[in-house]
Amino acid sequence: MSITADTTVATVATEHPLATRVFARHGIDFCCGGGQPLAEACGAKGLDVRTVLAELDAELAASPAEEVRWDEAPIDALIDHILADYHRPLDTELPRIEEMMRKVHRVHRDKDPERFDELLRAVLEAKADLEGHLPKEEQILFPMIRAGQGGVAMGPMHVMELEHDALGGTLRKLRALTNDYTPPAEACNTWRALWAALADLERATHEHIHLENNILHVRARRQ
Ligand SMILES: [Fe+2]
Ligand SMILES: [Fe+2]
Repeated sequence: MSITADTTVATVATEHPLATRVFARHGIDFCCGGGQPLAEACGAKGLDVRTVLAELDAELAASPAEEVRWDEAPIDALIDHILADYHRPLDTELPRIEEMMRKVHRVHRDKDPERFDELLRAVLEAKADLEGHLPKEEQILFPMIRAGQGGVAMGPMHVMELEHDALGGTLRKLRALTNDYTPPAEACNTWRALWAALADLERATHEHIHLENNILHVRARRQ
């Protein structure tokens, strides 16, 4: 496929998994807002679409072995991939983030009480949302899809997509509250580690939601 300004962000991300690196670099939403044509998504970020197209070309040319095409792999393998690489790591990562967040809040709150309070609230919200969300997929939706019943799981898929949107909103809040995850010069090691962990949570969650919204659910609806 040749990528043009009219290709949707989700299509590019589905057919060229490595393109998500370029999107992540520029904060282009390829999961919940993936239905937008590239030109529109770039415009919204104040980016020149020609520059982004050139970066996509360079990224894809530099990586001759494309990652797995999850729109073509067996659907069970896709679900196994989501569980192993995006769900299970959160079992330990979310408590780790909460612990660092509470420590940074306790030690540094005085520097900017309003921002640190809001940040703590947003981190706890993201954690609670994910902890409520994952079991619903694991216990209800994914087993239905594995059984070939995606066609009658429209309701659960819609609910999951609404939860993805809410999660996307919380991540945008985290990005704004952390100056795009850029720690100030004075930041201590835990503070830096927390910002890095939050940036990684954003990257992983965008990939995770993209795999579900744009690939798994699309395939399941055809079952
Ligand atoms: Fe998931
Ligand atoms: Fe999900």
